[in-house]
Amino acid sequence: MTSLRALIADLVGHDPDEPPVRRPGVAEALARCRPGEVVAAADGADDVAVLRLSTGEACVVADRCPHDGGLLSDGFVEDDRLVCARHQWELDPRTGRCPHRAGVVVQVRAVAGSRDS
Ligand code: FES
Repeated sequence: MTSLRALIADLVGHDPDEPPVRRPGVAEALARCRPGEVVAAADGADDVAVLRLSTGEACVVADRCPHDGGLLSDGFVEDDRLVCARHQWELDPRTGRCPHRAGVVVQVRAVAGSRDS
């Protein structure tokens, strides 16, 4: 049986009773992010998702799913697309566009070209 607390955490993307977890800066997140991974980070006051494609190319996108606000950093990378964990919407992290939903775009913060960025 699912607890109310677990249900709320699923709906809002985190447990509101837990203290906030410190997010690393973008550079720190990039240093630890391997190809095919996504890491939660902070770009100033903004939450972002940092990920690496299979080639090592780095992408940084706003950490809010355009569908229902889920944390994209809780998702996963599949075939160089970022997949939201909540309802599996996909987006191209290079452009921010959702390939199956015309007009839906998430903000791309920065794109670095190499593993050492
Ligand atoms: S919140 Fe529904 S797919 Fe991301």
